[in-house]
Amino acid sequence: MNEIIIAGCGYVGTRLARQYLDLGAPVTGLVRSQGGLERLAAAGIPGLRHDLNGCEPVARSLAGVGLFHLAPPSDQGTEDLLTRRLVASFAQAGHPRRILYVSTTGVYGDCGGAWIDEDWPTRPTVARSLRRLDAEESLRRWSRETGGELVVLRVSGIYGPGRLPLERLRRGEPLVRPEESPYSNRIHVDDLVGIGVAAMERGANGAIFNVSDGHPSTMTDYFLQLAKVAGLPPPPLISMAEAAEHLSAGMMSYMSESRRLSNRRLLEELGVELRYPTLAEGLRQAI
Ligand SMILES: NC(=O)c1ccc[n+]([C@@H]2O[C@H](COP(=O)([O-])OP(=O)(O)OC[C@H]3O[C@@H](n4cnc5c(N)ncnc54)[C@H](OP(=O)(O)O)[C@@H]3O)[C@@H](O)[C@H]2O)c1
Repeated sequence: MNEIIIAGCGYVGTRLARQYLDLGAPVTGLVRSQGGLERLAAAGIPGLRHDLNGCEPVARSLAGVGLFHLAPPSDQGTEDLLTRRLVASFAQAGHPRRILYVSTTGVYGDCGGAWIDEDWPTRPTVARSLRRLDAEESLRRWSRETGGELVVLRVSGIYGPGRLPLERLRRGEPLVRPEESPYSNRIHVDDLVGIGVAAMERGANGAIFNVSDGHPSTMTDYFLQLAKVAGLPPPPLISMAEAAEHLSAGMMSYMSESRRLSNRRLLEELGVELRYPTLAEGLRQAI
């Protein structure tokens, strides 16, 4: 099996690395901090510390590797300088054979609750999603110019063990009534890992896959289901008009977009079978 490098080897990347190690592939996890390096060592994953936002070259060859790019974009502006630097670094470090980029569904912007597939136009409006699209475009440019292979996953909300908004529920923060709440989409981390491996190993060069469980529901429904499974009191419900006063700017930004993601391409082209196709199944495992 091809050598695998996981740039941004955190919550998802660590699980991805374990999966590749189980398959017998040589894997290195790239992280920014000493803490990250220690976390990888504890999980038995060979690690490399490197700041992708810095100017130093990567201290190893990337020539011919399968590169998972999971490092989040830089946190300001509308361009993802981190991805631009990563691409520029290939001139010295060597070009990967294939890159699998973990993008987000935010690149579609608000879709007014419509069902969307990968052909839906990208119309991001918030800065974090503009940076995501910029990262995708930098990588597509790299692929066009060098012949290196690229697969993009546009991933919806990731949940799993240790990644549940339980604290928010415990604080009793309010949520918008289900009938006014936007649609949101989710994927269990174990399914995302399976999809990542399938896409790296057999996704068509140039392909984009929406990644979700195919069962969108409202954001409020997610919290109500989680409260039930976790045995916590359901959050108080408020109107959308009241939300601006009570919810954080970040939450309001997520509430301003609504879309329902089709995962048909993922299931048909990658032949993936999801372990947790519904929140009910996934949350029971994650809790
Ligand atoms: N949360 C969601 O619902 C969601 C949805 C769609 C897509 N995504 C995206 O999916 C990707 C993976 O998510 P995750 O939850 O696994 O993220 P995570 O746990 O926050 O891990 C991010 C990793 O990236 C590394 N990193 C950050 N900045 C870096 C830099 N400048 N140079 C080198 N490494 C750097 C971190 O290193 P350290 O360990 O040293 O800190 C960490 O290992 C992210 O891009 C995320 O934005 C998330």
